[in-house]
Amino acid sequence: APLAAQQALNVAVAAPAPAASKDVTILFGSQSGNSAGFAKKSAKVLTENGFNVTVSSMSDFKTNQLKKVQQLLIVASTHGEGEPPDNAISFHEFLLGKRAPRLEGMTFSVLALGDTSYELFCQTGKEFDARLEELGATRLVDRVDCDVDFDEPASGWLKSVVDRLKEAGSAGTGAAVAAAPSSDAGTAAESAYSRTNPFRAEVLASLNLNGRGSNKETRHLELSLEGSGIAYKPGDALGIYPQNDPALVDELLEATKWDAQAQVTVNKNGEVRALREALIDYFDITTLSKPLAEKLAQIAANKEALELFDASNREKFKAYAHGRDLLDFIRDYGPLQGSAQDVVSLLRKIPARLYSIASAQSANPDEVHLTIGAVRYEAHGRERKGVCSVYAAERLQPGDTVPVYIQPNDNFKLPEDPSTPIIMVGPGTGIAPFRSFMQEREESGAEGPSWLFFGDQHFVTDFLYQTEWQRWIKDGVLTRMDVAFSRDTEDKVYVQHRMLQHGKELFAWLEQGASFYICGDEKNMAKDVHRALLEIIETEGGKSREEAENYLASMQQSKRYQRDVY
Ligand code: 2AM
Repeated sequence: APLAAQQALNVAVAAPAPAASKDVTILFGSQSGNSAGFAKKSAKVLTENGFNVTVSSMSDFKTNQLKKVQQLLIVASTHGEGEPPDNAISFHEFLLGKRAPRLEGMTFSVLALGDTSYELFCQTGKEFDARLEELGATRLVDRVDCDVDFDEPASGWLKSVVDRLKEAGSAGTGAAVAAAPSSDAGTAAESAYSRTNPFRAEVLASLNLNGRGSNKETRHLELSLEGSGIAYKPGDALGIYPQNDPALVDELLEATKWDAQAQVTVNKNGEVRALREALIDYFDITTLSKPLAEKLAQIAANKEALELFDASNREKFKAYAHGRDLLDFIRDYGPLQGSAQDVVSLLRKIPARLYSIASAQSANPDEVHLTIGAVRYEAHGRERKGVCSVYAAERLQPGDTVPVYIQPNDNFKLPEDPSTPIIMVGPGTGIAPFRSFMQEREESGAEGPSWLFFGDQHFVTDFLYQTEWQRWIKDGVLTRMDVAFSRDTEDKVYVQHRMLQHGKELFAWLEQGASFYICGDEKNMAKDVHRALLEIIETEGGKSREEAENYLASMQQSKRYQRDVY
């Protein structure tokens, strides 16, 4: 039979020395945990196929070992505007820099995770891929770039990688090993629920944490995990699959003149739903990505839509898309020449939104709590609403259920030693994981000192979980708290101003081995807090800027400086 012949051939090809090594190194660069999760899954599959797999975060990998790696797999996500994730920064800098070694003997493949709604889609993965080739390494399997719904393409990549590695002759015993039970997966206690198979959690409570007259609406949600077997740790996030705003869907139906009851196929399995329901439950109607808009422009009645993609003006589409969605596009360039089915087939699935968990399971065994800031603003003459945050604020009621899953976050964890001091900076909804930290430390009776910096607009209306912090202070669970209410005084005071005010003590905490955590806004707050931290280390530690940077880098390396920013 041809198959047997082929197998025989494989064996014959595999037999002559030097056989490729069975050693495979998988490095991941992960911000929210997807790359880490997929890298670990890949490691498991390769192990089952007879390979010796080393899997590690890029930040834990010793770069002087790189030259010894013969078969390298990279799973890298891209963060924000084309940036490498935190735990990939140093490796990325090393590999793209002048000190990177030649890698002629190496074979490699890159899996890039990303989000098509960003201009520099999968940028970090692309950079690793191009650079490895430039350094002389040989591509084993072409890079695969994945959008947020990455499972299928990622599994396809993994399959090709396994096949190619086996062909390379390295794991002749693969088939036999693959048949053996994988007892060492280390995930025995894992729940049956996951990102692709979410648990429907019942809403137990939903309250607005802000007082009357506040500019903000911050929802405290309590969800039931009863019966799910789901486990999480402080620092982990919860993924929620939201529904689109029915009012927005109705506006879309009106603009397109589509029949709300028309039956449309919603997924590859051929499941069918009424259009209105499908637009609420299944399709992402708020992200106007470039790849989507380019396809829509082809079928838009108004051919000016094509001018958005003029090669001579790359900024044109970006400027247009900023703050706009599918409905804007259809109003501006429609009608679309295609059926509802034609159009929805171009849309991606509603991606889950991640929220840092605000509770500890030790204190709430069957529950998970979230702190969600409702996003509402006006743009291009329309009121805009954050899909998930406003779903939580306006529509989710106690008794409703919502599909959720745990997104583990290894990059934001309490110190292993409970006596280690911790400093937490979390203005606004950035407070969430620190409530989890405090609950955990209270439950476990941890003795380590803790210091919280919190900030928001007004003391009276925006002091999130105020009574809880005060009780923790009283009970000695929280050692110290400094708050910055930015709009109660003439001059704005932010968390970093409080840090600088207490720089001497803060530096003393760092010298005593404190771990430093930032959660919340990335663009402004986290950068400013980072700068303040550098300034404190410089001033109070009597260090040069460079020494202070090294001090922080080494804190980062030893996981004493962690960020959960968005
Ligand atoms: P503001 O809205 O008055 O500017 C939580 O949102 C808190 O973070 C608010 O008090 C907000 O102040 C504040 N904030 C805004 N920009 C910040 C920055 N760059 N650094 C620290 N805090 C900031």
